Amino acid sequence: MNSEVIFAETVKRLRAARHLAIFTGAGISAQSGISTFRDPSTGLWARYDPKKLATPAAFAKDPALVWAWYSWRRTLVNEAQPNDAHLAVARLAQCLPHVTVITQNVDDLLERAGSKEVIHLHGDLASARCFQCNRPYLGALPVDVRADCDSLEPPRCQHCDGQIRPNVVWFGEGMPEQELDQAFSAARDCDVMLSIGTSGNVYPAARIPTLATEHGAWMVHINIEPMGTASDKTLVGDATHWLPRLVDALG
Ligand code: APR
Repeated sequence: MNSEVIFAETVKRLRAARHLAIFTGAGISAQSGISTFRDPSTGLWARYDPKKLATPAAFAKDPALVWAWYSWRRTLVNEAQPNDAHLAVARLAQCLPHVTVITQNVDDLLERAGSKEVIHLHGDLASARCFQCNRPYLGALPVDVRADCDSLEPPRCQHCDGQIRPNVVWFGEGMPEQELDQAFSAARDCDVMLSIGTSGNVYPAARIPTLATEHGAWMVHINIEPMGTASDKTLVGDATHWLPRLVDALG
């Protein structure tokens, strides 16, 4: 089916939707200037592989390097603005009876665009916790770290003097149980799912669109590249093009 046919049918399904689940990946934040995981890094961070930095072992080995990387990423997010796709997600929640928003992203652009109760499967840059005792860190987090800083001592835990780490899910770590259960339950229950800007590379999150399809939902990818197999439905193009069009068509 071509995108316009998929678009027309998706509008019809949304109008009748009992429960819309929205599942987002790095692509929804691309137009806000936040590079996706599969984009090549630029500058200083080009020589580091994100997969090698986003691990407990990397933090244990060089906490100042990993803390600098996440502090620079938090600075980028803090300086970025939500784009029309983030805003359209919030508008969908205002015009439909039941909308669940699930993200793999660690930025807060969906919330800053107005979405409530976003389910973060991979954590978020806006919070941090102790690497040793896991207690939440309540101090301020740096948001003025430039790209050329590759060493920044993390703060210390006020309870055990351990090192503070970002509250994101690292490779090799489990995902938050409650958030995963909520996301899988929404995938099973929804009658429409929009899977926006995700390559579907990382499990178990990548299972969510398939789960929705298996439970009879009208599941549509929104991606700059066609996704999945020929039987999958993709609105091919930028999320900032398709999502506002969907919202406008709902009237
Ligand atoms: N509009 C729509 N889709 C886009 C856009 C855009 N403007 N720009 C990029 N995309 C698509 C790309 O085609 C790609 O399929 O977004 C997807 C981004 O894929 P990834 O970079 O793999 O990001 P994501 O799918 O979120 O990665 C999942 O992997 O690295 C881990 O924990 C990390 O949460 C991340 C997870």
